[in-house]
Amino acid sequence: MKGDVFVIEGGRSLFGRAELHGAKNAVLPMLAASVLTAAPVTVGDCPLISDVEDMIAVLRALGVDVAKKGREVTVSGAPSVTEIPAHLACAMRSSVFMLGALLASCGEVCLYSPGGCRIGARPLDIHLDGLAALGAKIEFGEDFVRCTAGKLRGTDIFLRYPSVGATENLLMAAVKAEGTTRLIGAAREPEILSLVRLLVKMGADISGEGTPVLTVRGVRELDGASVLPVKDRIVAGTVMAATAVCGGRVELSGADSSVMGAVISPFLGAHTFLVEHGGAITFESDGLLSPTDVTTGPYPLFPTDMQAPFMAAQCYASGMSTMRETVFEDRFAHVAELGKMGAKIALVGGTAYIDGSAGMHGAELSACDLRGGAGLVVAALGAKGRSSISGTVYIDRGYEDIEGLFSSLGADITRRRGG
Ligand code: EPZ
Repeated sequence: MKGDVFVIEGGRSLFGRAELHGAKNAVLPMLAASVLTAAPVTVGDCPLISDVEDMIAVLRALGVDVAKKGREVTVSGAPSVTEIPAHLACAMRSSVFMLGALLASCGEVCLYSPGGCRIGARPLDIHLDGLAALGAKIEFGEDFVRCTAGKLRGTDIFLRYPSVGATENLLMAAVKAEGTTRLIGAAREPEILSLVRLLVKMGADISGEGTPVLTVRGVRELDGASVLPVKDRIVAGTVMAATAVCGGRVELSGADSSVMGAVISPFLGAHTFLVEHGGAITFESDGLLSPTDVTTGPYPLFPTDMQAPFMAAQCYASGMSTMRETVFEDRFAHVAELGKMGAKIALVGGTAYIDGSAGMHGAELSACDLRGGAGLVVAALGAKGRSSISGTVYIDRGYEDIEGLFSSLGADITRRRGG
């Protein structure tokens, strides 16, 4: 596939300080929430990644004004368009977040089949059933869904699965609905707390955040606000995985250990050391990881977005590890690529069995989704010899200057510009 390629000479230890920025999965719904008011909404510390650029393009296509100064994005004005352009919806799954916000602010929204990483079917039933419960009319076209509502009315909504996006969409739909809405079985990811913090600062009445039951009392209007998102725990975990594989000591500046428990715990063992100090985490490893058995799940369990980066680290562990993926039904595309490096991984149902004693070497690799691509970078950093990774466009969706990040820590990684 055309495009840039990462070239990595593996085997270098990592030392230094990595500065974390706002979490992609907090910033995207927060930017979507901005259309709930015409007043200026500012989200600071945004990562410089293509998903944020794509979300800005969606907002501009809806007719609102978006000003970006470095990492600070300010959105103002009311949407004049309620249809998410197909080419933009296909670029990114996060265009789904516009459903709740646009419906609440304009009474209608039309979304073409959203894009994003190919990691399973990713249906929208939980989103749409919830919007229908609030009184929206849902119409399906060949490749679009249209939601319309005169007035949304609060009600109890039971989520059959704690879907992150559905929780966020339904929150944004409920904040100006008539009466009270309870989201029962809601997701509890830290990125949702950032969205709640923004909505409350805008004047929404929300309680129960961090618990499986969110209560929203509808208000008439929302105002502008300015909020910083939670730091990116997946970027932090990805740097930890690379440090575990390469050996070394890295300070993760801005890491918030209060939301990183599940990310950190599989890294802890005889060959690692971790200390928290003044808004940072320092993680040290001698590069000899112990085997681990990990299962992904909704927060506060081990996050599915860490599955591929951590599996790359398990490929270097001294024995058999397992990785059970319970959130997405098709999130093992990176396994075949790791196999090109010598990894011995057997997939049985939703569980990967990783024999770390196989020994890893550089190879020509191809990323086909965001976190799988990050996993390949982690594996290549630890492997003897040279690796090349194509499909960098996927990785750039969620990691800001990943080659600069790891080069600054001592890795030998460069970006070869593609045609
Ligand atoms: C969010 O996706 C994240 N994306 C994902 O991160 C993350 O992996 C995921 O949550 C789980 O934590 C953003 O926040 C932008 P879900 P989302 O709805 O909301 C099923 C990354 O790499 N489901 O919690 O799409 C779904 O198929 C991305 O940064 C339904 O069946 O995830 C999946 O199996 C990848 N029906 C499971 O629930 C629905 O209506 C979890 O999906 C909705 C979801």
